[in-house]
Amino acid sequence: MTNILNELQSRRDVVRMGGGQRRIDAQHAKGKLTARERIDLLLDEGSFEEFDMFKAHRCVDFGMQEQTYPGDGVVTGWGTVNGRMVYVYSQDFTVFGGSLSETHAEKICKIMDMAMQNGAPVIGLNDSGGARIQEGVASLAGYAEVFQRNVMASGVVPQISVIMGPCAGGAVYSPAMTDFIFMVKDSSYMFVTGPDVVKTVTNEVVTAEELGGAVTHTKKSSVADGAFENDVEALTEVRRLVDFLPLNNREKPPVRPFFDDPLRVDNSLDTLIPANANQPYDMKELILKIADEGDFYEIQEEFAKNILTGFIRMEGSTVGVVANQPTVLAGCLDIDASRKAARFVRFCDAFEIPILTLVDVPGFLPGTGQEYGGVIKHGAKLLFAYGEATVPKVTVITRKAYGGAYDVMASKHLRGDFNYAWPTAEIAVMGAKGATEIIHRADLGDVAKIAQHTKDYEERFANPFVAAEKGFIDDVIMPASTRRRVCRAFASLRGKSLKNPWKKHDNIPL
Ligand code: HXC
Repeated sequence: MTNILNELQSRRDVVRMGGGQRRIDAQHAKGKLTARERIDLLLDEGSFEEFDMFKAHRCVDFGMQEQTYPGDGVVTGWGTVNGRMVYVYSQDFTVFGGSLSETHAEKICKIMDMAMQNGAPVIGLNDSGGARIQEGVASLAGYAEVFQRNVMASGVVPQISVIMGPCAGGAVYSPAMTDFIFMVKDSSYMFVTGPDVVKTVTNEVVTAEELGGAVTHTKKSSVADGAFENDVEALTEVRRLVDFLPLNNREKPPVRPFFDDPLRVDNSLDTLIPANANQPYDMKELILKIADEGDFYEIQEEFAKNILTGFIRMEGSTVGVVANQPTVLAGCLDIDASRKAARFVRFCDAFEIPILTLVDVPGFLPGTGQEYGGVIKHGAKLLFAYGEATVPKVTVITRKAYGGAYDVMASKHLRGDFNYAWPTAEIAVMGAKGATEIIHRADLGDVAKIAQHTKDYEERFANPFVAAEKGFIDDVIMPASTRRRVCRAFASLRGKSLKNPWKKHDNIPL
């Protein structure tokens, strides 16, 4: 009996060494943790239950039968993050460079199937040289099996990808279909074709970091949602994100204990809006002042900074925030901002996360660059996303809400539940100066007359009361009381039930 127990122990010890000490040392020398060390940091201590630790590849080509590493380059299983269940896979670069074989893919598929069945998020820690070259098409088939599951799981359980090493070629498309992608600076990259192919085909000389590093994907391409300094920070931040998310689309988001009075009044908000309407102010200040304990988990912080997206809690419950940021491009909506916010709104709606929209938007950004880039279609994504969303929607207009952008930003007409405005709000087709120049074109040469017309227009329209008279604004609220009013609004919407008409699926302008 003891022999059998010892054998199990020694087999486990072999598996836990992955590709051996030399390769583990090489991994550490690159500043990277091993697959198992990463899982230990991601999950609550002692909570990891492993599947398929003895599973081995079946390849007999290229002498592969002589080289088997039980576990086959990926560690899979489930555990908990602050007591809540998640499934996880962690690719082991020390075994065949973490490359994906048929059996490696089967292990990932198994936990994805279980995650769907049991309703828990899937977190993938990616560190892989791509398709297992010795296995050829069997490996490609494995990828496609994973892809198909990514599609089926989308909107059913949250899927999070952390890129912690190479992720190249078709391998990028599994993370690309998940809800959030995080990258580690300097040690991870993602690209469809690497620097060598790029050089051959387009003659561009570029490093792997420039082509697909964390900075590139968080600032330029928006493929990734966040970049972190190292493995430890990335995994800690993923734990923080998981705390905001429901486990699946049948559950409400978690409610955490909170130590911040929902009735808290913040008098400094009464002076947040500058006297001059063209002067910017930081919308993040408002978010931090109304959130429980000032905690804001920002998504895509480095991209399209003219719109802010992320999660806060109000009375302990998760709320998704979308907010125009007047300090960047005066808070205009453009292609990038519309895409960023639309995807965020759709995530929130898919997972029953209520949406708070903070509006200060002078309109859509003009220009050939925007029109040629398809701002019509991209802007429509955000409009569509808000229009289809059935979760509780609370909107606060702090200052400008002009033109089509007024409609887009979760207006009453897109089934906003509570549409509030601060007294400083200006809800109009456009700014007073532009409006005057069109309506009173005949007086354009007369400076005094134009000034008077502009003043008249401002007095009539640059306020929230015209919209309030029509019932498009439910109430004009004191800025200082915003947290209290918004908390109460969401509290009153906890029982909201709204269904869209049956359809196979919609046809969002992609
Ligand atoms: C099998 C692989 C491998 C792979 C790496 N290894 N990639 N084994 N299949 N794809 C092995 C190496 O042989 C080596 O084994 C160990 O992993 C570590 O690799 P190194 O090259 O020593 O590491 P490093 O210098 O850090 O370079 C990492 C790397 C490089 C940049 C990822 O290994 C590389 O370029 N690999 C090939 C990448 C590739 O072409 N993959 C296929 C892409 S096509 P030993 O025994 O020495 O430790 C693809 C299509 C997917 O993925 C399509 C999906 C639809």
